[in-house]
Amino acid sequence: MNENLIRHTHPISKSDRLKNNGHQAKVIWLVGLSGSGKSTLAGNIETVLHQKGYKTYLLDGDNVRLGLNNDLGFSSKDRTENIRRIAEVARLFNEAGIIVLSAFISPLESDRNQARELIGVENFIEIFVHCPLHICEKRDVKGLYAKARKGLIPNFTGIDAPFENPKQPNLTISTEAEAPAASLKKLLDFIEPKLKLE
Ligand code: ADX
Repeated sequence: MNENLIRHTHPISKSDRLKNNGHQAKVIWLVGLSGSGKSTLAGNIETVLHQKGYKTYLLDGDNVRLGLNNDLGFSSKDRTENIRRIAEVARLFNEAGIIVLSAFISPLESDRNQARELIGVENFIEIFVHCPLHICEKRDVKGLYAKARKGLIPNFTGIDAPFENPKQPNLTISTEAEAPAASLKKLLDFIEPKLKLE
């Protein structure tokens, strides 16, 4: 940390921005294995919120890794840095008054706790997108599990890299048991009341 940096307070505050937008800003942090349905659910909820007039932005694993984080791989050190940067970006969007849908595996409890702390516990909603590994592997939408089983992708989450289930998520959505429309309704019913301005 550079001791010669001094934080500047600007005239427009987060609450000014929220008033203009007409709703609260939350970071809706979707956690789950590759293929669990995070990106689909994030896209579906963003679509509904957007159509209702909320200001939203979706941060997605593969997309952020193709840009901002294209220097990072999948070692545990790089995953920690991946989540740290995403949390910083989500914090900026939150300050801007925008609802963030984030869809990253974020496999480690310690990294998620760091993200929660950085973004602020009052702004952070953790959603566990739960789907057993064997189902994600059966779906294998991107063909990555098959490659990982052949040893072509080292450190693949769930195969030879860890995934820690969230201990106390704000909500768990089981994409094995529910159809996408049911998952979407469950998430929307949970989120929408939290978006009201006092
Ligand atoms: S995280 O673990 O650092 O949170 P992130 O969500 O950004 O992961 O990226 C996961 C995506 O990267 C997966 O959906 C998959 O498409 C791709 N991927 C490539 N290599 C791996 C790997 N070794 N482990 C997990 N996902 C991988």
